[in-house]
Amino acid sequence: MATERTFSIIKPDATRRNLTGAITAKLEEAGLRVVASKRIQMSREQAEGFYGVHRERPFFNDLVTFMISGPVVVQVLEGDNAVARNREVMGATNPANADAGTIRKEFAESIEANSVHGSDSLENAKIEIDFFFKPEEIVG
Ligand code: PPS
Repeated sequence: MATERTFSIIKPDATRRNLTGAITAKLEEAGLRVVASKRIQMSREQAEGFYGVHRERPFFNDLVTFMISGPVVVQVLEGDNAVARNREVMGATNPANADAGTIRKEFAESIEANSVHGSDSLENAKIEIDFFFKPEEIVG
């Protein structure tokens, strides 16, 4: 199995409810190692840039406004097949469709306030990691 790095965000609904530790524990239990982590307040410009691929979607403004509504925790996760493993433990985008035991089933409030973001491909993981982290901030 290939060791990969992926990018994760613990979203404002989760930091607001003090779930940073509980969510990180689920990631660690899934075999992912936190090799970088920081709590930040995203600016509107940053969020619009990060979610630029969704600019034409009807929920774009709501998504950006939600993502800047409070602090987030951005993380780099490392492990075997980390991209797929993280998507598995996150669960479906809409918590109503998420499997039992996943982060979104356990913690998410709605399709918008869905507690976590995770890269959907290795290619996007690299882009997203570079968006928030300098190489020296990642310690494997
Ligand atoms: S995914 O995970 O990219 O396949 O999901 P997708 O459906 O393409 O959604 C992309 C991101 O948009 C968020 N989203 C929404 N936000 C607000 N309102 C509505 N209706 C909505 N639908 C989807 C979804 O949580 C994804 O955010 P990230 O941060 O990428 O997980």
